[in-house]
Amino acid sequence: MRIFDNPHFEAHETVNFAFDAQTGLRAIIAVHDTRLGPAAGGCRFWNYDSEDEALADVLRLSRGMTYKNAVAGLDLGGGKSVIIGDPKVIKTPDLMRAFGRAVDRLGGHYTTAEDVGVDVSDMEAVRETTAHVAGLARGAHASGDPSPVTAKGIFDGLRRAVALRFGREDLAGLRIAVQGLGHVGWYLCTHLHEAGAKLIVSDIDAGRMRRAVSEFDATPCAPEDVLTVEADVFAPCALGAVLNARSIPGLRVAVVAGAANNQLEEVADADRLHARGILYVPDFAINAGGIISVSREIAGVDDPDWVTARMSQLDANIAAILAEAEAEQVSPHHVAMRFAERRLEAAGR
Ligand code: NAI
Repeated sequence: MRIFDNPHFEAHETVNFAFDAQTGLRAIIAVHDTRLGPAAGGCRFWNYDSEDEALADVLRLSRGMTYKNAVAGLDLGGGKSVIIGDPKVIKTPDLMRAFGRAVDRLGGHYTTAEDVGVDVSDMEAVRETTAHVAGLARGAHASGDPSPVTAKGIFDGLRRAVALRFGREDLAGLRIAVQGLGHVGWYLCTHLHEAGAKLIVSDIDAGRMRRAVSEFDATPCAPEDVLTVEADVFAPCALGAVLNARSIPGLRVAVVAGAANNQLEEVADADRLHARGILYVPDFAINAGGIISVSREIAGVDDPDWVTARMSQLDANIAAILAEAEAEQVSPHHVAMRFAERRLEAAGR
């Protein structure tokens, strides 16, 4: 396992490895950058094929949080954690409490929350051993499941991209392919269906597919076909790295706007999309609604307007990023990165 010369290391401030013999916990907590404030980012519980894969994932995700928090205008740094193993097999409240102790040892340098494989009830167990946790269902300032706020942000960002690409404010009749009908994907489909879009839905879970087809009057699409299905918009809401040198030539959409973290396999994929004339809304900007929701809890604020104001600011930032990219004829990914870097550099000074 390579750490400091790992291709994904990218100047991380700290990387912690946590082990607990009693529960079998194996976790990695990565803190990338705290110039804007203490780090915050979710905990992913995933059955990685190897420890190298887990390390690469946590490093990529935690760096992504630095840029996400920066572009969302939050005074939070970037961090993320992963727990290695199949959550369906090894996840117990005791293991989550052991994870909480590992978070607690960092003394507030990192605050955790939900990500794939971890839900609100797991975070309740984590709370028993650390105060540095958010996304809780109960207690002072509890913000609960961040997914509805994430989905609202995706919906707003998607509409911005549609306005730019198709010159229209509404989504009526637009064909939108949604990959992943989990927490965020489902809420997103609800918004899109209400707005009159024609949905094409795809999930590896056959039950969710059936429910989505009936509830949203959607067209089902096999998971292996969703990257080549003809539509106006593609909304990736499952896992990362779906946009790459192999998939981009086959895409038959004009816009990509979805929730998944790390949608690009590599930065060059942003340019590949741009060269094909596909408008890509940077994932770390458009999916920041969840961390905005969680950050209210971290800030100890109860007022829901606090979230609404930041969501409006995010929407405005995304509109500005898309407009600037259009004017410069570059991928919005580069403009969003520049936007975040400016905030980070100012904070660093
Ligand atoms: P989830 O685990 O609830 O949903 C993921 C869905 O994708 C599941 O229904 C799963 O069956 C499906 N899926 C997995 N592989 C698939 C494939 N190959 N084809 C089609 N469907 C597939 O996760 P959640 O919370 O909805 O998050 C979705 C994505 O958005 C993740 O990448 C997550 O990191 C990201 N995200 C989530 C946020 C949140 O607030 N929940 C915030 C920011 C990003």
